[in-house]
Amino acid sequence: MTQTELKLLCQQTCEIINTVGDFLRDELGKVSNQQIETKSLNSLVSYVDKTAEEMLVEQLSAALPNSVFLTEEETIEQQKGEFRWIIDPLDGTTNFLHQIPVFSISVALQQNEETILGVVLEVNRNECFSAFKNGGAFLNDQPIKVKANDNLSDALIATGFPYYDFEREEAYFKLFRKLIHDTRGIRRLGSAAVDLCYVACGRFDAYFEYSLNSWDVAAGALIVQEAGGHVFDFSGVNEFLFGKEIVAVNDGLKKEFMELIQSHF
Ligand code: IPD
Ligand code: CA
Ligand code: CA
Repeated sequence: MTQTELKLLCQQTCEIINTVGDFLRDELGKVSNQQIETKSLNSLVSYVDKTAEEMLVEQLSAALPNSVFLTEEETIEQQKGEFRWIIDPLDGTTNFLHQIPVFSISVALQQNEETILGVVLEVNRNECFSAFKNGGAFLNDQPIKVKANDNLSDALIATGFPYYDFEREEAYFKLFRKLIHDTRGIRRLGSAAVDLCYVACGRFDAYFEYSLNSWDVAAGALIVQEAGGHVFDFSGVNEFLFGKEIVAVNDGLKKEFMELIQSHF
């Protein structure tokens, strides 16, 4: 795919995501307890996630014929192919169901297993973050960059708390304790895709979490990289997509923050 085609597809993906954002906004506050299913410990889903996914699949298939899908809710057959969309139709389901205003839609496109496009819509502020490979990163059409900060004491850190996999909680809370002493503070927004985009646009300096899936991070990771930031797994290599652990960090704090991660995990 040429850069021009990719740019156009990125714009189309933003338009598609926006129509699904309207749907999420319309459904906010309408889901009854009977309509909530528990997939596994603390992992909830409703018709809203599934319908949003179906809407995305239908429109993205039309935008890129012959593309295949890897999606959280598996409303379509999961396949591998040259062009594969990786989708989280509602990232922050718990927030959505509790009417807490941080949730998003995350869509990435891979070509031969390399991520080439990422779009995340943070629904409540109507902020569309996007990037395509070697094309830079954008927030509603304005270029974004990670924060220029190399002082840990000035850094605001994002994380996601463990909520079903408690095996590494000792290491996690030890690092958490260190960070509340040594940084400006820690936030837990409840949408991994938004956490990553906030690193990309400089609102957060760094973000870390374990037990995530590819659909939580695929789009956001490319947006961080295209904004000049770095994304790793906890061991410092590139296995963050399927490795179930991720660190995103601005350039200035890369060395210090990765050393902290590696000395704890
Ligand atoms: C969750 C959110 C949350 C993170 C969880 C994810 P979901 O995604 O990204 O911030 O802490 O690990 O599973 O289930 O709302 O799509
Ligand atoms: Ca998610
Ligand atoms: Ca989800």
